[in-house]
Amino acid sequence: MSKKPLILGIESSCDETAASVVTQNEEGLPLVLSNIVSSQEEIHKKFGGVVPELAARSHIDKIDWIVKKAIDESRISIDKIDAVASTAGPGLVVCLSVGLSFGKAFASVINKPFIAVNHLEGHALSPKLNSKLDYPYLLLLISGGHSQFLSVQNLGKYKRLGTTIDDALGETFDKTAKMLGIDFPGGPQIEILASKGNPKKYDLPKPIYNKGGCNLSFAGLKTAILKISKSIKTEQEKFDLAASFQKTVLEILKKKTKIAFEEFEKENKIKEKIFVIAGGVAANKKIRSLLIDLCKEHNYQSIFPPMEFCGDNAAMIAMVGLEKFKLKQFSNLDFPTKPRWPLDENASFLKGAGVKI
Ligand code: KG4
Ligand code: ZN
Repeated sequence: MSKKPLILGIESSCDETAASVVTQNEEGLPLVLSNIVSSQEEIHKKFGGVVPELAARSHIDKIDWIVKKAIDESRISIDKIDAVASTAGPGLVVCLSVGLSFGKAFASVINKPFIAVNHLEGHALSPKLNSKLDYPYLLLLISGGHSQFLSVQNLGKYKRLGTTIDDALGETFDKTAKMLGIDFPGGPQIEILASKGNPKKYDLPKPIYNKGGCNLSFAGLKTAILKISKSIKTEQEKFDLAASFQKTVLEILKKKTKIAFEEFEKENKIKEKIFVIAGGVAANKKIRSLLIDLCKEHNYQSIFPPMEFCGDNAAMIAMVGLEKFKLKQFSNLDFPTKPRWPLDENASFLKGAGVKI
């Protein structure tokens, strides 16, 4: 039996320091041997968002023991590692450089190839960590920094169908939470508050609902919440605003996903229609059930990564590293950090005032 590749993955693009060892099973599917994630939630809580300098310092403090723990838990010895894969972008440059430099140094010390990985590609392929998944498929990536619909054609081959033109959905959940007095990251709390409220209480705007294809926009919704939140006096009103916000998000996602289905089908002639929903916001139960129902109506198979691989982790980075290792797609040791690194490099930049959609 030939030796299965063993890949060490490292992730430090934002506020999670993570390391993982991934190999493959007899059928060639990824097998996670260890997956260590250390969150910095406590550090950034009081600031209401991630403070890059503090995040980078924390990555520096933790990275060596997180990597050691990942290797120890995988029960392999260092000399058996075949390649080291680190996130090179997108993300906060001071954070990215910690995991990227560590990965390059580690690879050169053990004299094995180094592989630079796009963090978004990690999210995009994350369902492969626990299920067989064939290309092409439609992907909705909803995280703290990104909200996009992508047609996933192959490893490294993506076509963006739609993206947010302003805020990401996770960021909108977090900012809404902040306006309701909830500590960062408040996204998961909004879901709990919403379950106690009346979703019909507040009528909130749905920006670019009737135009812009499957592009998304959440800035106007956030501004409307800011105005209402100033007049809120009771706990029940808080619950009602959270519920109305979540209901509005569901309506936006429903409409835009239907458009994305049509665009995906125009792009790809396929028998088996697959819709993958990845990123931290994919943990939201209401969003999950909405998209599962929509998939049933439109003959799509819905796939969510397991909860442990929805948020930032290094198993998804090691897994992309494994795919690239098999194709001998190695990176040079002078590979730069890429704070902006879109999956579809040909897609136009759609952010900021004056954007025409
Ligand atoms: O993918 P992720 O862990 O990190 C990024 O790459 O951004 O996503 C984190 C985001 C945060 O904005 C967080 O509030 C949001 O995902 N999130 C949720 C839920 N769980 C996490 N948003 C809404 N409902 C949830 N249950
Ligand atoms: Zn992420």
